[in-house]
Amino acid sequence: MTNDQTKQLWTRVDRYIVDALIGADEALDAAVRDSEAAGLPAIQVSAPQGKFLHLLARMLGARRILEIGTLGGYSTIWLARGLANGGRLITLEAVPLHASVARANIARAGLAGVVEVRLGPALETLPQLAGEGPFDLIFVDANKDGYPEYFRHALALSRPGTAIVFDNVVRGGRVADAASDDALVRGVRALNELIAAEPRVSATAIQTVGTKGYDGFALVLVNT
Ligand code: SAH
Ligand code: DHB
Ligand code: MG
Repeated sequence: MTNDQTKQLWTRVDRYIVDALIGADEALDAAVRDSEAAGLPAIQVSAPQGKFLHLLARMLGARRILEIGTLGGYSTIWLARGLANGGRLITLEAVPLHASVARANIARAGLAGVVEVRLGPALETLPQLAGEGPFDLIFVDANKDGYPEYFRHALALSRPGTAIVFDNVVRGGRVADAASDDALVRGVRALNELIAAEPRVSATAIQTVGTKGYDGFALVLVNT
């Protein structure tokens, strides 16, 4: 198969998975539509990935969720719908337009009361979260060169049993290239070194294919 055919197959299977197991959803579909109309990049998690995050939140019985990198709030909506009763989600976003599109999408999904979008570079807003933790689930999906610093902050905002998920840790396989000078690859590799040297956590990474191409999630558990 050519690369194009391979990508088409991944997209077709993602579409099948959505049809078979997920279905259409008015608020999520509208969030994608309005994000695109506002000119946001279409780099939100796929629907199967979003539902995976949602199920993870439910499996954890999460009452506090932190997200770093909101974009239009698509992953935010999936995650917030997985909150236990009375739970809250805080999501951090640096770009004002992204934050305002996200707030509207989140409100339309009926989640304005449980989700708070905090505007500003995450390295400025993270230190203000000290009194709001610990979080049960942390999803990291902002600038990839920041992943090592985000891991340090996430760990400080965790308790034993907290799960920390990082998006985009494979990037078409480029992560395996030790000589890469790509800031994104270097960020993920530095993250993995930090994780490996941290006795308080256990971790893996899972490669994924689909509408977003070939990438992956890292899953970090804070040891109990
Ligand atoms: N989680 C979203 C996609 C996030 S895309 C979803 O799946 O629906 C990455 C987002 O991180 C972008 O909106 C970008 O503006 C934001 N971002 C980039 N650098 C950031 C920083 N330093 N602090 C906070 N957000 C940042
Ligand atoms: C891209 C995808 C992402 O999930 C992300 O967080 C940033 C960029 C991309 O495909 O370019
Ligand atoms: Mg991502």
